[in-house]
Amino acid sequence: MKRVYNFSAGPSCLPEEVLKECAAEMLDYQGTGQSVMEMSHRSKFYEPIIADAEAMVRKLMNVPDNYKVLFLQGGGSTQFAMVAENLGIKTGKAAYINTGVWSKKAIAEAKKLGVQVDVIATSEDKNFSYIPRVEKITGDYDYAYICFNNTIMGTHYEYIPDTGNIPLVADISSCVLSEPLDVTKFGLLFAGAQKNLAPAGVTLVIIREDLIPDECRPGTPTMLMYKTHAENGSMYNTPPCYTIYVLGKVLHWVEKNGGAEGMGKRNREKADYLYNFLDNSDFYHATTEKGSRSLMNVPFLTKYSTGATDEASVAKEKEINDKFVKEATAAGLVNLKGHRLVGGMRASIYNAMGLDGVKALVDFMKKFADENK
Ligand SMILES: Cc1ncc(COP(=O)(O)O)c(C=O)c1O
Repeated sequence: MKRVYNFSAGPSCLPEEVLKECAAEMLDYQGTGQSVMEMSHRSKFYEPIIADAEAMVRKLMNVPDNYKVLFLQGGGSTQFAMVAENLGIKTGKAAYINTGVWSKKAIAEAKKLGVQVDVIATSEDKNFSYIPRVEKITGDYDYAYICFNNTIMGTHYEYIPDTGNIPLVADISSCVLSEPLDVTKFGLLFAGAQKNLAPAGVTLVIIREDLIPDECRPGTPTMLMYKTHAENGSMYNTPPCYTIYVLGKVLHWVEKNGGAEGMGKRNREKADYLYNFLDNSDFYHATTEKGSRSLMNVPFLTKYSTGATDEASVAKEKEINDKFVKEATAAGLVNLKGHRLVGGMRASIYNAMGLDGVKALVDFMKKFADENK
């Protein structure tokens, strides 16, 4: 068996230990004679699995009792709508910070649903390579919204805006449990699981109970009301049972490896190793500004990405990027192609990626730079 180092932005690598446990339990989960895939979600075997997953989220993220932990479907993208439908109901106004693709999509969805969106800050002027500094948000907003880690652009908030009484909503899809986070600073947090938590298929939502309304914006479908899921322990309809089971196992792995603090230490070490290399290289450079850099997603360019738009320069840039990705793949370092909005390469180094993977990447990058000077 040959495992690769997988730098995918999501779905992404999972801890090998967890995959082995799932494999061992595939045909017969703890003497039940069934796979978790085959079980009724209302069975006595499954109930402890989802209860444990919730308990582990609460424990590892230090979630206070006045918050609900929900396991929903529809990905982060459905949360763009649910947030607006459920929270945009008093003044119908919301403040958004625009830090790239995922916040733009959230903004578009809120507008589509009739919420009046004020984009109070943006980093569009520099292709979203930094996080705008917005210390304080005031106004008669129903909520304020940020994308805490920008998977495509590779940026991350190093501060939490002070919103006073305005509930702060954050998309933490690509940084959940990557380091400690003070849940009490937020009204609502959500994360698609397919990066740090589990395979694709479940979305974790953590919402302060007083923000769960009885009535949403007019016409909101039952399935898009947080109340529906909060009142039914995420079992109003069939939940993504198997994904939640894997999520529970990943969380136990996180706990064994030091919890959120342990992850933070591990991730900082990995990110520092890679950014230090990039910052000291005359062949590569990071695309993001210091003070706004993601621990999870690291986009980088080579010296051939000059910004020149003449045909020869564009062709050379493409040739080098393609060569990098091809040779890296052959060396067992996969999914490094950059997003088209940034270009170059992107290494996503989520919780399950070890320092060994990052070192292997840097070794490859050194060799590639020498061969392509
Ligand atoms: C930060 C962020 N938010 C939202 C999404 C959308 O998630 P989904 O594909 O689960 O709808 C993504 C997907 O990569 C993401 O990175």
